[in-house]
Amino acid sequence: MRIDVVTIFPEYLEPLNVSLVGKARARGQLDVRVHDLREWTHDRHHTVDDTPYGGGPGMVMKPEPWGEALDSVLESGPRGGEDGPVLIVPTPSGRPFSQRLAVELAAKPWLVFTPARYEGIDRRVIEEYGGRLDVREVSIGDYVLAGGEAPVLVMVEAIARLLPGVLGNAESHRDDSFAPGTMAGLLEGPVYTKPPEWRGRGIPEVLLSGHHGRIARWRRDQALARTSANRPDLIESCDPEALDKHDRAT
Ligand code: ADE
Repeated sequence: MRIDVVTIFPEYLEPLNVSLVGKARARGQLDVRVHDLREWTHDRHHTVDDTPYGGGPGMVMKPEPWGEALDSVLESGPRGGEDGPVLIVPTPSGRPFSQRLAVELAAKPWLVFTPARYEGIDRRVIEEYGGRLDVREVSIGDYVLAGGEAPVLVMVEAIARLLPGVLGNAESHRDDSFAPGTMAGLLEGPVYTKPPEWRGRGIPEVLLSGHHGRIARWRRDQALARTSANRPDLIESCDPEALDKHDRAT
């Protein structure tokens, strides 16, 4: 997968050199290219923002540098169709990012992120590229950050760990909270490792039983309990078909 990020803070994306994403890059599974938006400015001050039409607080990112930057990035790869890019615009006004969207985006060959600062990017940029590309305005949660760079880090990590061969154990995202699969729609329950006793605390007997059926049942009950406590909304919206007889009794 190829990922381009256009930003006024390239150094903010340095964590993409570390850990899971960094290793995926080193192995050639991910081709990440970070670009400085100011390279596409032409004035002495490398201006990227201006005051908003209609008045109001804050500044708006000018369309010209974004247009030149995106034209240049887009020219360096396939134009459209199956191989074309998905343009992802992080904004608190976007559609919510979710595991489902991460799975969808992980199947795409090329993602281009446009993290903005200030009050956002001049709307005409989104309209211009929306006319010819798959453009998604995406929010990572109901809070406002100072810019879209942290959301890009969040989204890239969620997507990269789903790419084939990136996680050590291909099974390890099957039971993720929110993952489609056996725990569909439920939060993942507690986990334990050695030693068997720590500060007088043992581990649930069932995990030592070697009985796969009982362990699976216990994990599911824990997931149900945790979901009811922390995210009752997920239980409410759960497809009743996804709950078995035992779940309903829990
Ligand atoms: N930029 C600022 N806040 C954001 C959020 N919550 N999600 C995505 N981009 C943002």
